[in-house]
Amino acid sequence: MIQRTFVMVKPDGVQRKLAGEIIGRFERRGLRLAGMKMLRVSRELAEAHYAAHKGKPFFGELVDFITSGPVVAMVWEGEDAVLLVRNMMGALKPAEAQPGSIRGDFTASIQMNVVHGSSDPAAADEEVALWFSEDELV
Ligand code: TYD
Ligand code: MG
Repeated sequence: MIQRTFVMVKPDGVQRKLAGEIIGRFERRGLRLAGMKMLRVSRELAEAHYAAHKGKPFFGELVDFITSGPVVAMVWEGEDAVLLVRNMMGALKPAEAQPGSIRGDFTASIQMNVVHGSSDPAAADEEVALWFSEDELV
C-alpha cells in the first residue's frame, strides 16, 4: 500500500551536516519526497509531536533537545513507506541499531539519534497533519 510518513533530521543531524546524507538515502532507495522544510521547532510543536511520551522521565530533555536547533521536516511517500523508513533508520537502542541503518552508521546516543520517522501508519497521518499543511505537500 502506498503510504506517506513523517521524517525529521533532528538538530544533531543538521548540526553534524548529515541532512544531505539522510535525504540522499531515502532518494536513492526510491521513495518520493512529498514535502520538505527547515525550521526551528517551537516548544508547543515539540510537545505535541512527542505527546505520547508526556510524563516519561526523558520527556523534558527530549523537548529541550528537539528545540535546540533547526530541523529538516519531510514527508516521504512509497510502498509501505512507514515501515520501510523505520527499517532504514535503525533501532532506538544504539547497540541494536544495525550497521547500514542511519542510526547504526551515525550515532551511539539514545537521545541524539539523528533522525525521526513515524512509528506506524496512524502516527504517520497525525504527524504529517501536525507538521505540514496540505498546500505544502506535492
Ligand atoms: P521512541 O518513539 O521510543 O523512539 P523512536 O525515535 O525510535 O521512535 O522515543 C522517541 C524519542 O525519545 C527517541 O528518539 C529518543 C527519546 N528517548 C530517550 O531519550 N530515552 C529513552 O529512553 C527513550 C525510550 C526515548
Ligand atoms: Mg517514536
